[in-house]
Amino acid sequence: MKEWTREERYKKLSDYSDDYMEELAKRVAQSPFRQNYHIQPNTGLLNDPNGFTYFDGKWHLFYQWFPMGAVHGLKHWYHLTSTDLVHWNEEGVALLPDTAYDSHGVYSGSGFVKDGQLHIMYTGNVRTEKWERVPNQIVARMEADGSFTKFLPPAIAGNPEGYTDHFRDPKVWEQQGIYYTVIGAQRTDETGTILMYRSADTVEWELMGEVDAGLPDFGFMWECPDLFEIDGKTVLLFSPQGIEPEGGRYHNIFQTGYVIADDFRMDELKLAHDGFQELDAGFDFYATQTAESPDGRRILTAWMGLPEIAYPTDSEDWAHCLTLPRELSIKDGKLIQKPVRELVALRKAKTVSDAGLLSGEKTIDRDGVNCYELQLELTLPASADRSPVILDLCEDAANDKRFRIILDPASKKITIDRSRCGIPFAEEFGTTRTLAVGQMDHVKLQIFVDTSSIEIFVNDGEGTFTSRVFPQAGETGLSLAAGSTIDYSLELWELA
Ligand code: FRU
Repeated sequence: MKEWTREERYKKLSDYSDDYMEELAKRVAQSPFRQNYHIQPNTGLLNDPNGFTYFDGKWHLFYQWFPMGAVHGLKHWYHLTSTDLVHWNEEGVALLPDTAYDSHGVYSGSGFVKDGQLHIMYTGNVRTEKWERVPNQIVARMEADGSFTKFLPPAIAGNPEGYTDHFRDPKVWEQQGIYYTVIGAQRTDETGTILMYRSADTVEWELMGEVDAGLPDFGFMWECPDLFEIDGKTVLLFSPQGIEPEGGRYHNIFQTGYVIADDFRMDELKLAHDGFQELDAGFDFYATQTAESPDGRRILTAWMGLPEIAYPTDSEDWAHCLTLPRELSIKDGKLIQKPVRELVALRKAKTVSDAGLLSGEKTIDRDGVNCYELQLELTLPASADRSPVILDLCEDAANDKRFRIILDPASKKITIDRSRCGIPFAEEFGTTRTLAVGQMDHVKLQIFVDTSSIEIFVNDGEGTFTSRVFPQAGETGLSLAAGSTIDYSLELWELA
């Protein structure tokens, strides 16, 4: 594996010729792990979704991008637009680290509409000669030609007293003519928190204080905060770092989760809630961002990856993708995630439509690649023998390699097992993940499989498992097995 020196990681895009970048893109395009319907970088590394906004008849979505290879180097914003959240146009690189206030990276931030123009607020990352970090929160405006004007000096320069230089990822919204932003922060005692600011004009920002989420000692840094309302409740979504595993929870290197409060008052900034909940139960999910659609839906996307983990495509000079967009709602005190309904536009032929009683194992015949949507509904016997049901994806002919989903009615738990799927990676964080569900008499799984990812929606979004997988040639099989008799229905659509 290539070792990147600091100098190489902080070289500018302009230091590379167009020919060099074209060659790199050609090489990346040869990868057997390129996705078909997920947002991925043409070269280099993608991480957080940024600036997700509906503006002027289009969705705008950006991502954190290091163009030259699969390493967290000098970050840019890459821009995409869409009218349907399914088909995306590549608009190219939108923000370069080209000022004294963002010289070492255009870090994460969000979008908002002001005076009829798309604006963003992001963190400009600067490193001094002594390599000390200086975070700047910068507002920029998209002009008619798609270029961005950065308003400098920064809206918020440096970090406020009482907090360290880990201060980033502003998420802005407007409420009754006032602009608000929440920003991820670290207190000087090295615990994570979120600061909230307000502004009448997005030029002068006043620190309102810490958002009191009732979690005074919960990890060392909170990244990518987001605060929004659904059905009159306030949701605070963020990615805390430094949480230790606890039973079946918190097994990824870093977490993403939320708290839900009945109300949130601007004069108190306090969220009373029933506890922090992880948003996704899979292996690769981090740094979420939401946006509101014109019809009032709260749409979420996330980085389908994690920091500080080596992925199999790193040696191919590209890494990561974004998750499918999901619609959020609240049910029984939990966030529900459903794939946005626009995604049906991806469906081509329905190549499997099967239903009946099953006891034993069944191979589901289909030719084709790992690019499909599968819906499985199961009714499990209420009494008698309630042995687990197993669904294998990405199987080879010998069922030696596979991605396994185990539904255990006795414990009401669903487990995913990546231990024998394709190219193994990140095994030091465990090879299974488990989700407890409310009931298991009737279970519904909606699964999106792409070349190198699996997203599972359980019981209409009650839970999700989002994971990268790297199956190799021939690992495309599918089978279902039940120890006792189950009633099932399975439909599969090849996706475009
Ligand atoms: C989260 C994050 C953000 C930061 C960005 C830099 O993955 O660390 O906190 O702004 O990535 O790429």
